[in-house]
Amino acid sequence: MVKLTGFKKVKTAVFISGTGSNLKNLIRFSKIKNSPISIDLIFSNTIKAKGLRFSDQFNIKQYVSSFKDSKVSEAKILNLLNKENIKLICLAGFMKILSKNFIKDFSGKIVNIHPSLLPKYKGLDTHIKAIQNKDEVAGCTVHFVTAKLDSGKIILQKEVKISEKDTPTSLAKKVLRQEHRLYPAAIKKIFN
Ligand code: GRF
Repeated sequence: MVKLTGFKKVKTAVFISGTGSNLKNLIRFSKIKNSPISIDLIFSNTIKAKGLRFSDQFNIKQYVSSFKDSKVSEAKILNLLNKENIKLICLAGFMKILSKNFIKDFSGKIVNIHPSLLPKYKGLDTHIKAIQNKDEVAGCTVHFVTAKLDSGKIILQKEVKISEKDTPTSLAKKVLRQEHRLYPAAIKKIFN
């Protein structure tokens, strides 16, 4: 049997602001033997983010900085990312907009998951918009992050049918389930 030697997982940071279900899912994925990534840092702009509990649970470093002064926060994070040798950033429900400079420093190495079929419905309230517009399908997108909001190159998308009974809440649940499959698949695609 050929043994793969020298395979090193790419050190990854996940940025969150809330529940962190995508974070938890990515941590699980990172622990699979052939996963291309390891999760080595969790960053949040708020101490209230429920997802920070996964830091203790999975023994992963966490860092919180409020973004009240975004320049200061970004400088601190960049420092830490370099110190920890982080090579990929996954945004997962991160509610702050990163500056052009920050993105330039990590160009092509920041990805995001967005709960719509981009380029449709950039920004917030995607499920409300999809239902109000009587769309038949919603979905989610993993894309590279550029300075323009929700506009970078698309890596993978998954459609989700909207039923007549769907509310923004029920649709969000259905889409989130698909997000949990899509994000790992998109990461595998990046490294293939
Ligand atoms: C997800 O719907 C994601 O697409 C969006 O924010 C939500 C985060 O959910 N960007 P969670 O914190 O990962 O549970």
